[in-house]
Amino acid sequence: MVTTGSPDYRDGGLEFGPDFVIGSATASYQIEGAAREDGRGPSIWDTFSHTPGRVWNGDTGDVADDHYHRWESDLDLMADLGLQSYRFSIAWPRIQATGSGAANPRGIEFYSRLVDGLLARGIRPIATLYHWDLPQALEDRGGWTDRDTAYRFAEYASRVTEALGDRVHTWTTLNEPWCSAYLGYGSGAHAPGRTDGAAALTAVHHLNLAHGLAVQEVRRAASNDPDLSVTHNFHVIRGDDDTSPEAKRRIDALANRAFIHPMLRGEYPADLLEDTAGVTDWSFVRDGDLAEINQPLDVLGVNYYSTVTVRMWDGASPRENNDGHKDVGGSPWPGSTDVEFLPQAGPYTEMGWNIAPDGLEELLLSLRDQFPDQPLMITENGAAFPDKVRMTESGPRVHDADRIDYLNRHFTAAHRALAQGVNLRGYQVWSLMDNFEWGYGYSKRFGIIRVDYETQERILKDSAYWLQELIATRRTPEL
Ligand code: FCB
Repeated sequence: MVTTGSPDYRDGGLEFGPDFVIGSATASYQIEGAAREDGRGPSIWDTFSHTPGRVWNGDTGDVADDHYHRWESDLDLMADLGLQSYRFSIAWPRIQATGSGAANPRGIEFYSRLVDGLLARGIRPIATLYHWDLPQALEDRGGWTDRDTAYRFAEYASRVTEALGDRVHTWTTLNEPWCSAYLGYGSGAHAPGRTDGAAALTAVHHLNLAHGLAVQEVRRAASNDPDLSVTHNFHVIRGDDDTSPEAKRRIDALANRAFIHPMLRGEYPADLLEDTAGVTDWSFVRDGDLAEINQPLDVLGVNYYSTVTVRMWDGASPRENNDGHKDVGGSPWPGSTDVEFLPQAGPYTEMGWNIAPDGLEELLLSLRDQFPDQPLMITENGAAFPDKVRMTESGPRVHDADRIDYLNRHFTAAHRALAQGVNLRGYQVWSLMDNFEWGYGYSKRFGIIRVDYETQERILKDSAYWLQELIATRRTPEL
């Protein structure tokens, strides 16, 4: 078991109030399968995963967890666990196969039944509109480098809200636009696999614009006064070299402020524009865009897994490149490829990501200090470990003590932030079930429920029982 690291951040019996919403999260392409059913069009992830060499082992989301057909029994599992909320995403190409026009009724029906099924079980629906499955037809016209994609996204958001906007509790526009822009168009590790720094920065702006337009559409079309949100994978950046302050500033600008400043302050940071001047002149930002992007949010979604440690590269020694993402050649850091990402102290999860619950507390406090009136929600946190299934008298079990320890430490961090007055509304564990982990295919298991990909059998891991007890008792189980 990987349980070293800071001895603290490991409290048992911590109490969470009744308004702190604890649930679990998934995303459409990672679990649904049924890639060609009921009028779903191809997305950039279908194209990417079917391109040889892009995804580990040639894995695709064609079948995944077959959740599209098993949604009802999956909902029963969520109810058994007592989840208070379920964060899922809607596949844009199920709603609009080519990214525009009328909504596909069969796509709408699937999510409508899912939402009704959640409500019938007393589970709060948190719907993400975009968790990376862009219709391929839009990519063929430039994808997120094409300004029109932002308007198509707003149209899609209004179609979905017209159908579900009487029942969804929380709407999240985008999941981790950092990944969509920089991994999709900069490093090439994610779909559509482009490696062009200027394209990545153009995508940053069009994703920001898409967010702002969609928030307005959802607010207009929803009838149940929902919460509006966006989810970011904020980077918690460390480093104690003399050059680290400069490296931290650069990465903070690209990773964090490039999104959160336009969204919550209505401006791009001046230093970001300067740092990237050799890559693009930002002329894709038009008059009025920042006002569209800058929309009040009811809750800000925070995804957190680990930290990064940086310094400026001296240009001579071999460059360290441990930023936690698959290195496929291109850079996810346009204008700052001279920043080095240093190896970090362990312990690590199976992703090679360092386990640092103090980073989560630091992040929550820092967001509170920067945006004092902004309620927060942890929309993803969890860990991949090499789980083993053991036969016991009561059936197959997965004793995932590593994952329980990871979750315990991060719930401890959240509790400490709450105790310091952070307005943190809840915690969605990533992930409800093992699933298609993007470029890593099915090789990494993040679920609290085990999925046997041959039989589609689901097995509740010990971490699922741990979460069940936490939700039922409102306390982290005693260690
Ligand atoms: C996040 C993604 C999520 C999952 C986790 C491990 O970046 O939002 O889909 O892959 O990482």
